[in-house]
Amino acid sequence: MHEPPAIYGIIGNPVAHSLSPFMHNAAFKALGVNAVYQLFPLADDEELKLFFKDLKEQSNPIFGLNVTVPYKEKAAAYVDVLDPFAEKVGAVNTLVIDHQRKIRGFNTDGPGFLVHLRELDFDPRAKRIAVVGAGGTARAVLSVLCLVKERPQSILLFNRTLSHAKELVDDLSTRMDTGIIRVVQDTGDLNIELADLLVNTSSVGMKAEDPRIIDPSLFHSNMLVYDVIYAPAETRFLSDAKARGAKTANGLGMLFYQGVLAFEHWADVEIDDRVKRVMRKVLEEKAGAAHV
Ligand SMILES: NC(=O)c1ccc[n+]([C@@H]2O[C@H](COP(=O)([O-])OP(=O)(O)OC[C@H]3O[C@@H](n4cnc5c(N)ncnc54)[C@H](OP(=O)(O)O)[C@@H]3O)[C@@H](O)[C@H]2O)c1
Repeated sequence: MHEPPAIYGIIGNPVAHSLSPFMHNAAFKALGVNAVYQLFPLADDEELKLFFKDLKEQSNPIFGLNVTVPYKEKAAAYVDVLDPFAEKVGAVNTLVIDHQRKIRGFNTDGPGFLVHLRELDFDPRAKRIAVVGAGGTARAVLSVLCLVKERPQSILLFNRTLSHAKELVDDLSTRMDTGIIRVVQDTGDLNIELADLLVNTSSVGMKAEDPRIIDPSLFHSNMLVYDVIYAPAETRFLSDAKARGAKTANGLGMLFYQGVLAFEHWADVEIDDRVKRVMRKVLEEKAGAAHV
């Protein structure tokens, strides 16, 4: 008799577009693990509550989860043990459920971003950084930049809704030193001419008709311009930056590394390079196919 597979998956709303099933199912297959990664759309907070109630049941076959919008912050309240970094961020994107049904929560979005920066040969130490956006992704990116031992010199933060940026920094400042962050009122105040790194964490650029968020004449060749968006692979933000000689990167690497780190929490071992290559290849194929 075959054992039923262990279940992993992603909770959020929506989740249908997620590339995580491709990446994680490819890893299970490459490792010969009897497990399957599924989508768990949850319509509202009530469904979230019921989902966590079921998760505690001894018979529940789910042993690992990713959490995406809009539940990354709310899910943190349901975990039994919060990893110290996730606690500081105030959000989880990865849950590990053990055989006693104890739920541990982690945040691999920030570390995923950082590992990708390292792959790009960007050391944040003493650098001048500008960030656009103040949503969930900004929360992870700003947290990791404030907590990393290679501390940046400064982070200038712009968001369409000024109060959201202020609220985010105020909230983070209760759990970490956010002294290097300054919220600015206009993209013109981001000092992009002097920036070593500019990160778009907003969702502007996902649609072809989305407006420019940065005056293209401000990009320069001594900077890395990073867009957390990965589909399309090259947003207008990135093509403008590239045209001005900046080094550019999209968010596929961040997505990949947050997935690798999540998988490593579930498996409790480091993934070897062969499996990482399989995961990245399938992600690149699926991300490309999503926007042909
Ligand atoms: N690469 C990865 O691993 C990864 C991981 C997670 C998310 N993402 C991507 O990150 C992006 C943001 O996701 P999120 O979860 O952070 O979203 P979110 O929490 O909803 O935040 C959205 C942000 O975008 C801003 N924004 C939205 N529409 C705008 C517009 N028309 N003009 C100016 N600003 C606008 C919002 O500003 P207001 O505060 O003014 O509303 C807010 O700062 C998405 O494209 C998502 O796909 C990538």
